[in-house]
Amino acid sequence: MNLSQLSSQTTTDSGLSRLVPNSTCFLVERWGQGTTYYPERDAGGFGDLLSFTTLEGILGAALLTPDVVRMFRDGGALAPTLYARPERVASHREIFCVDRALVAEQYARGATVLLSLLHRCSPAVGRLCASLARELGFPVHGYAFATPPGGRALAAHVDSEATFVLQVAGRKAWKVYPPSPAFEPDSPMAFLRRTRTARPFEFSSPATELELVPGDVLYMPPGVPHEAQALAAEPSLHINLSVTLEEV
Ligand SMILES: [Fe+2]
Repeated sequence: MNLSQLSSQTTTDSGLSRLVPNSTCFLVERWGQGTTYYPERDAGGFGDLLSFTTLEGILGAALLTPDVVRMFRDGGALAPTLYARPERVASHREIFCVDRALVAEQYARGATVLLSLLHRCSPAVGRLCASLARELGFPVHGYAFATPPGGRALAAHVDSEATFVLQVAGRKAWKVYPPSPAFEPDSPMAFLRRTRTARPFEFSSPATELELVPGDVLYMPPGVPHEAQALAAEPSLHINLSVTLEEV
């Protein structure tokens, strides 16, 4: 493959139109405004973007560090020593690399695998992120979440990015809470810095509960508290497309 072939892979298709029914309506009415559930956006369950087999291949083939692959169980992060080991790369020099067998062992014990840089690992996700970035005007990064049956990775939290959740396999139950009144949409990073030391949100308001199935999309603006859990019957795989709203 040469560079001209690489550049010819750049698509002019609208990534946004794949995720929402009407891009113009989305940008006018929903972007930055409110959480929105879009069922049945992809008949193939976004299987062209990711699968468990593809993810296993990425974990097995690439030299990944614990900065790129993280694992979570019941709201807490696993220590990297549980799923990575030192590898010698030169005399007197080692780097800490993710070990696929250890990842599988922790996954079997209920831990979720979170792969960052999915847009770098998967050309299809990379093209989708690039298309979205052009349309939205902000950088877009891809993440993969593989959760074993009944698994719960993160406790309820807020993100400073806008997020598109694409369910790929299995089912995941989501709870989405009303946004914090303290959140200032124009300054998500300032909000995030502040909430690192303060209670970020209250749970007095009832959550909206959703069950995402393959092909569904959930859009959440920044600052929306949320949590998710895989259903007990089957593992869940989803992609997060995360839009970084740079501070002005
Ligand atoms: Fe999140």
